[in-house]
Amino acid sequence: MEKIVIHGGNRLTGEVEISGAKNAAVAIIPAALLAQDVCRIENLPNISDVTCMTKILESMGAKVKRINKHTIEYDTRNVNSYIVPHEMTKKLRASYYLVGALLGRFCRAKVALPGGCDFGVRPIDLHIKGFELLGANVNLESAMVNAKADRLTGSAIYMDKVSVGATINIMLASVKARGLTIIENAAKEPHIVDLANFLNAMGADVRGAGTDVIKIHGVTELHGCTYSIIPDQIEAGTYMAAAAATGGDVLIKNVIPKHLDSISAKLIECGVKITEYDDSLRVESSGKFRHCNIKTMPHPGFPTDMQPQISVLLTVAEGTSLVSEGVWDNRFKYVDQLIRMGANVQVDGTIAVFQGVKELTGAPVKANDLRAGAAMIVAGLMATGTTEIEDIQYIDRGYEDYIEKFKALGADIYRREFSDSDKANAAG
Ligand code: EPZ
Repeated sequence: MEKIVIHGGNRLTGEVEISGAKNAAVAIIPAALLAQDVCRIENLPNISDVTCMTKILESMGAKVKRINKHTIEYDTRNVNSYIVPHEMTKKLRASYYLVGALLGRFCRAKVALPGGCDFGVRPIDLHIKGFELLGANVNLESAMVNAKADRLTGSAIYMDKVSVGATINIMLASVKARGLTIIENAAKEPHIVDLANFLNAMGADVRGAGTDVIKIHGVTELHGCTYSIIPDQIEAGTYMAAAAATGGDVLIKNVIPKHLDSISAKLIECGVKITEYDDSLRVESSGKFRHCNIKTMPHPGFPTDMQPQISVLLTVAEGTSLVSEGVWDNRFKYVDQLIRMGANVQVDGTIAVFQGVKELTGAPVKANDLRAGAAMIVAGLMATGTTEIEDIQYIDRGYEDYIEKFKALGADIYRREFSDSDKANAAG
């Protein structure tokens, strides 16, 4: 097993290039199933979630051609199956997008329920409500989502809760449905807009993405296209937090600053200097932070996927800071790991209270999930001493070449093979 070792205390300086957005890529790749044609997708992040989703399409009969590290061509003309078994879906939360895409193509889908991060209940009732309103019969049997429709017909669908996944899945299922579909109380994340732009490049008619109401006029056929994924808002935010945490001075390149507004605003509130350019932004920090309160919300609110990373700064911010998790029921598991490093945090359900301490000290910690793992890296870079992070497979899911990128910024960070006897000894 591998783990990450960090000798903390180095200021991060220099430039980092942000990769394509994971949460856009894992929605756009299955969307390629909707055209019996060739889709060339560029600026894909080179991460295990993209590898997983690509393997799933190949297993269903798609011909996949890797053009380069960030460009893949998906030829879905020979896709002949609407069944995706558990061994293919268990490592990828976003595999449920295959239900919407396969329904859209075959009016049939049989997809094993996904795996992915564990921070509270992750229901799919809103996805199912959308599919049923479009005319599908959906049932869950032996952990498979089984959906079937004679034909799909446009419908008005009100989302009881703002849901990124359900909004995406309904978009995928409705682009070839007969008539007009209206999604109200839709999610507005940048990756929703990116998917809509991809679908429209394939000949779909999707309007209003990025607002509360998305209108989709069904079309009979979709065709292939060439499309470039947007930069990853959360990867960019993670490097912004790391630059700030280490008192650094970093230029974050290949970003859409507008997508980072809420993250920049919070960092500025903490005392960090942010300078925006057309497709980059500069983060300059003294390494000292004012306390601030954070409430995570659906976009354009502060993103829940940045909550663990930004909270690391609050562990050493002077005074008391309050973090309220407005999206997930249980997204503070990483706090136990920060407490091992000397943080003073009280968690009560979806609220965490941070009392600033002088510094964090390095310790052996775990990555509880993808973004918690990223937060452990930020903490290790900021801490005095050595931090070792286990379960780094979570981080590999969503951050391309993160060891190399952090090293290039001056971090003392590396991967180390970790034998079972080491683990036994560590367990004491
Ligand atoms: C997506 O998850 C992201 N994953 C998550 O990012 C992100 O945290 C989340 O959106 C919120 O932005 C991907 O895009 C692959 P939701 P998703 O449906 O779609 C409830 C990361 O780190 N809900 O917007 O699963 C749900 O319980 C990952 O990249 C229902 O009640 O999130 C939650 O409280 C982690 N019923 C809220 O809505 C449903 O049918 C928002 O969930 C669906 C969701």
